[in-house]
Amino acid sequence: MDDFNPRLFIEEKIEWLRKEIGSEDAIVALSGGVDSSVTAVLGFKAIGSRLKSVFLDDGFMRIGEADRVRSIFEKLGMKVHVYDVEHEFLEALRGVRDAEEKRREFRETFYRIFSRIAREFGVRIVLQGTIAADIVETKSGIKTQHNVLEQIGIDPLKSYGFKILEPIKELYKSQVRLIAKELGLPDEIVKRRPFPGPGLSIRILGEVTKEKLSLIKKATAIVDDELSDIECFQAFPVLLEGMATGLDSTGGRKYGYILALRIVESMDALTAKYMKIDWSKLEKVRDRLLTEIPSVARILYDITDKPPATIEFE
Ligand code: XMP
Repeated sequence: MDDFNPRLFIEEKIEWLRKEIGSEDAIVALSGGVDSSVTAVLGFKAIGSRLKSVFLDDGFMRIGEADRVRSIFEKLGMKVHVYDVEHEFLEALRGVRDAEEKRREFRETFYRIFSRIAREFGVRIVLQGTIAADIVETKSGIKTQHNVLEQIGIDPLKSYGFKILEPIKELYKSQVRLIAKELGLPDEIVKRRPFPGPGLSIRILGEVTKEKLSLIKKATAIVDDELSDIECFQAFPVLLEGMATGLDSTGGRKYGYILALRIVESMDALTAKYMKIDWSKLEKVRDRLLTEIPSVARILYDITDKPPATIEFE
């Protein structure tokens, strides 16, 4: 880590991508997170507009994400092709309750759609921002990351008709941030907190419904708004299964949803510590969640480290 040279890494990877891609076109799976953004910019530097940047709007992203990503990359001279595929993902996840099954369904749907888009573009090469932690966790059997295939024996060429190139797969998050900075990406991307590939689908415990999705989107926007200024690795709400009894604003009975808040400090996502955040900050988030989302009855704060917990709940 100490002798990691971002500039050298960038030069080598651009060269490597040029060689691997040759005279073909390629697409990149861009989500707007730091990993996929770095991958997209490396690809763009390697082959210019022969690289098509594809953003799958799967419905599990945060509010306004597609527009935000489009505008950031357009400023860098890169066109972003946005595909609204929420319906397909909701269909695929209908009735699925188990965490790993949900992740597998998400992965299948993601690559099936990508395979279709790759065919539309007539490309056989997909660039993807997989990093070391994604591979370590999937291989160890902790959880199925949405973007890990070859390392667990799935041949993307056979299954989906394209070859995957992963230029940053040996890096950890802190190194990816150094590369992002060196590439001149805006702070909004360089410092962006990690957001899981399967998005909000794994922050709704149990079955995903449209109602629950809309609730977690609102809650996520409130948490982002209130806690964007604190120095942490991640801060997010999770919608738990089950309901809790409470009182509504008139003193009557309320039976509503339960949200957990997860705020952690970490370097590489492989271990994490829950954050001892100022209580008044927590109270502000609590008040906004309860008043702006009346169907919520209770807010819990997660004080579990990783290990023994993981960062996400599913
Ligand atoms: P866990 O929950 O395993 O998360 O402690 C470690 C880090 O990875 C993120 N995460 C994912 N990122 N695809 C991703 O790209 C995934 O399927 C995925 N699952 C978890 C999580 O938010 C945390 O930063």
